[in-house]
Amino acid sequence: MSDFTSSFWPLYISIITLVSIVGTWVFLKSQTTRKLAAGEKPTLMEHTWDGDLQDLNNPLPRWWLGLFYSTMVFALVYLALWPGLGNFAGVLGWTSKGEYEAEVKAAEAKFQPVYAGFMKQDIATVAANPEARAIGRNLFLTYCSQCHGSDAAGAKGFPNLTDHDWLYGGDPDTIKTTIAEGRGGVMPPIGAALGEQKTKDVANYVLSLSGRKHDATRAAAGKTIFAENCAACHMPGGTGMQAMGAPNLTDKVWLYGGSEATIIETITKGRNGMMPAMTQTLGTTSNKEAKLHLLTAYVYGLSQK
Ligand code: HEC
Ligand code: HEC
Repeated sequence: MSDFTSSFWPLYISIITLVSIVGTWVFLKSQTTRKLAAGEKPTLMEHTWDGDLQDLNNPLPRWWLGLFYSTMVFALVYLALWPGLGNFAGVLGWTSKGEYEAEVKAAEAKFQPVYAGFMKQDIATVAANPEARAIGRNLFLTYCSQCHGSDAAGAKGFPNLTDHDWLYGGDPDTIKTTIAEGRGGVMPPIGAALGEQKTKDVANYVLSLSGRKHDATRAAAGKTIFAENCAACHMPGGTGMQAMGAPNLTDKVWLYGGSEATIIETITKGRNGMMPAMTQTLGTTSNKEAKLHLLTAYVYGLSQK
């Protein structure tokens, strides 16, 4: 049904629609009253054109008139049964919303037994099931691929979910919590407080942690700066802390990038990666828990190969 703010427009539309249908009917009728009298031959009207095309005054064929009238009957019946006339809902009460809801219900009823079966199994078992993985992959493409990529390999700022490196943890329960409740990584901007030189020093220390090319003098100076400013979250050895989502800085996996310039940018501006809570997005239906279960299993399975 239409949502007009004024009651004038539904009326306006209804009147124009009905007047056009009735008007066409009257016009057609008025043009077809003449019948050929018994024995009368159609006469040639004045036009002859394109050499031999003639215009006779034959009455319109009945089958053609019948078709024309039936389109009008069809229009009137349609407008009575379904929405179309202003905000008149139609006798059948059909709405696109109602149809959608019925489809969702039917799909739920269809998938319910399948889902219920997977809900009884633990994540590792579901992750090994090819059918569950196919459903999980479809769910992932729908809900997650816009950020993590269709292959789940991530992008700058969006973690790769196929490796063994986890910001928050890769066990089934942690993955489930991450998906359901979301995560927000807070790397505070520290560069301004440190000043340019010290920021460069500590960045070189970070480079040295993963064995990247670095300035040894600066890295040595950066070690104490790291202990004072960074170790609380990234741990004294730089190995990271999953409770905070603070990345391991000693490996080759980078969320934002491991070049000196990018590390300096991270320290100067800070970073705030946001993983949205998916509880609402996955729907309010009874299948929500099952979708969460299958998504968890899919993500868990990605890094188990
Ligand atoms: C709007 C973008 C966005 C969407 C949509 C999204 N994510 Fe994320 N996800 C992120 C970001 C950003 C992070 C990293 C958060 C951080 O930096 O602390 C993340 C982190 C994660 C993590 C934690 C990875 C780790 O290393 O611990 C998992 C698991 C995850 N997402 C799974 C999913 C799944 C499954 C879906 C779909 C149901 C999904 N995400 C949808 C942006 C998104
Ligand atoms: C309050 C805790 C906290 C402190 C203090 C902190 N960090 Fe971070 N750091 C984080 C978090 C959380 C992230 C991940 C941000 C995200 O997920 O968007 C991060 C991300 C980073 C990254 C990006 C890593 C990558 O993979 O791209 C670098 C580099 C980094 N921090 C270095 C430092 C340095 C150097 C210091 C000290 C000067 C420091 N951090 C201090 C919490 C902290």
